[in-house]
Amino acid sequence: MNYINQKKVHLFTQGNIIAGRVISVINEEIVENVGIEDLTKEISKDLKIRVLIINSKGVVVSDSYDVLKGSILRHYELEESLKGKSVAKQHNLEKYGRTMYVSVPIILNTKVIGAVFISASLEDIYKNIGETMRSFLYLSFISLLITGFISFIFAKLISTPIEELTNSIIKVHQGNLEERVEVRGNDELSNLGSSFNLMITRIAQVEQQRKDFVANVSHELRTPLSAVKLLSESLLHQDHVKVETYREFLTDIDSEVDRLNKIIENLLALVDIDKGKLILDYQITYINYLIENLIHSLKPLADNKNIELLFYEKEKIHAKLDQIKMQQALTNIIHNAIKYTPNGGKIEISLYMEYEDIVIKIEDNGIGIPEESLPYIFERFYRVDKARARSTGGTGLGLAISHQIISLHQGRIEVSSEINKGTIFYIRLPKDVGGLS
Ligand SMILES: Nc1ncnc2c1ncn2[C@@H]1O[C@H](COP(=O)(O)OP(=O)(O)OP(=O)(O)O)[C@@H](O)[C@H]1O
Ligand SMILES: [Mg+2]
Repeated sequence: MNYINQKKVHLFTQGNIIAGRVISVINEEIVENVGIEDLTKEISKDLKIRVLIINSKGVVVSDSYDVLKGSILRHYELEESLKGKSVAKQHNLEKYGRTMYVSVPIILNTKVIGAVFISASLEDIYKNIGETMRSFLYLSFISLLITGFISFIFAKLISTPIEELTNSIIKVHQGNLEERVEVRGNDELSNLGSSFNLMITRIAQVEQQRKDFVANVSHELRTPLSAVKLLSESLLHQDHVKVETYREFLTDIDSEVDRLNKIIENLLALVDIDKGKLILDYQITYINYLIENLIHSLKPLADNKNIELLFYEKEKIHAKLDQIKMQQALTNIIHNAIKYTPNGGKIEISLYMEYEDIVIKIEDNGIGIPEESLPYIFERFYRVDKARARSTGGTGLGLAISHQIISLHQGRIEVSSEINKGTIFYIRLPKDVGGLS
C-alpha cells in the first residue's frame, strides 16, 4: 500500500499549496473570487483531481467541476479541517469507485477561514497495483516452471547413475562378476562408479584365485592319493607277492603319504598365516643369531650335497620380529637354494643395512629360474619343473609361505636369476619393523 500512502502525501502537499495560494488572493474571508476559481480549475486539470474551496461556514465557494458551488458540504474530513486538522480518508464510491478525500484547513493569522477539499480517484493506482501483481504472479509462475525444470534435470542427472549403480549391485549380488557400470564425467558419482568397478574387479580376482586354489589343492592331493591307490591295488590283485615287492611298494606308499602330509602341513601353515595377520608375536631378535641357527640346522643337508654354506655379516643387526615365522620364511628360501643347487655348489648368505632397510641376501650358484617363471614363483603350487619337483619332494608352497610372512613384517622379497648360473633372493625389512628403531 505504499502507492496509496505516496498519493496521500502528494495530495496533502497539493492541498497545502492550494491553501497557501488561496490566502494570497483574499484579504480576510473567502468569498467568491475569479482568482480562486481559475486556480482550482487549473490545478484540477493539471493533476486530474477535483478541488473545492470551502469557507468557514462550510459553503462551497469554488468547485473545479462547477457542480457544488454555493451548496453546503458536510463531510467528516471537511468538518475536521474546519476545526484546524488535515485529514485524508479513502472511500468506495458507487459512481467513481475507490476515491481519496483530502481536506486541508486554510489558516489566516492563526484563524481557520476555510478549507481546501480534494477528491482524487485511486482507480488508476489500484489498476497499476493489480497489473504489477499479475506480472509478479506471472513471473513467479515462470520462475517456478524454470526452477522445476532445472531441478528435474539435476535430479535425473543424479538419480540415473545411482539407479544404474543399484542395478549393477543387484546383478553382482546375483553372482554376475562381469558386471561393470558405465563411468561418465569426472564428478563424485563417476568416482563412485569407478571405485565400484575397481571393487568388482578385485572381487572377481579373489574369486578366481579361490577357484584356482581349490582346483590346485584338489589336484595336488589327488596325485599322491592316486599313486597310493595304484600301488595298493596292484599289491592286492597279485597272488604270491614276494616280501621284497611288498617292501618296495610299501616304501613308495610311505613316501607318497609323507608327501600328502607335507602338502597338508604347508596348507595349514598358509591358512594359519592368513588367519593370524594381526597377531605376530614380535620379539627383539638379533638377525645374525637367527641366521646362524638356521645355517646350523640346514648344514647337514648342504653337507650331503657337498654344498658350501657361507655367512657374511658386517654388523650386529637387531629388529622386532616374529622369530618362529621369520625362521620359517628364511628356511624355505635357504632350503630351496640347497635343493636347486647341484652337488659341490656354493650358497652365500649376507646380512647388511641398506639405507633404512635390513637386507638378507641369499645367493646360490645353482640351476637358476627361467625369466618367464620369475613372476609366478611366489604363487601357491607354482613349480618351474614339475617332473623334477616330484623327485625333490617340492609342493610349490614354500615361497608362497615365505612371501606371506615377509609381507606381514612389512617387508619385500625380490629375486633375480640366471639359468645355470644361479639365483639371488633379497629380503628387505624396514629397520623399525614391529615398531623398533
Ligand atoms: N634357489 C632356487 N633356484 C632355482 N629354482 C628355485 C629356487 N627357489 C625356488 N625355485 C623354483 O621355484 C619353485 C617354487 O619354490 P617353492 O619353494 O615355492 O616350492 P618348492 O620348493 O617346489 O616346494 P616346497 O618348498 O613347498 O617344498 C620351485 O619349484 C623351483 O622351481
Ligand atoms: Mg621350496
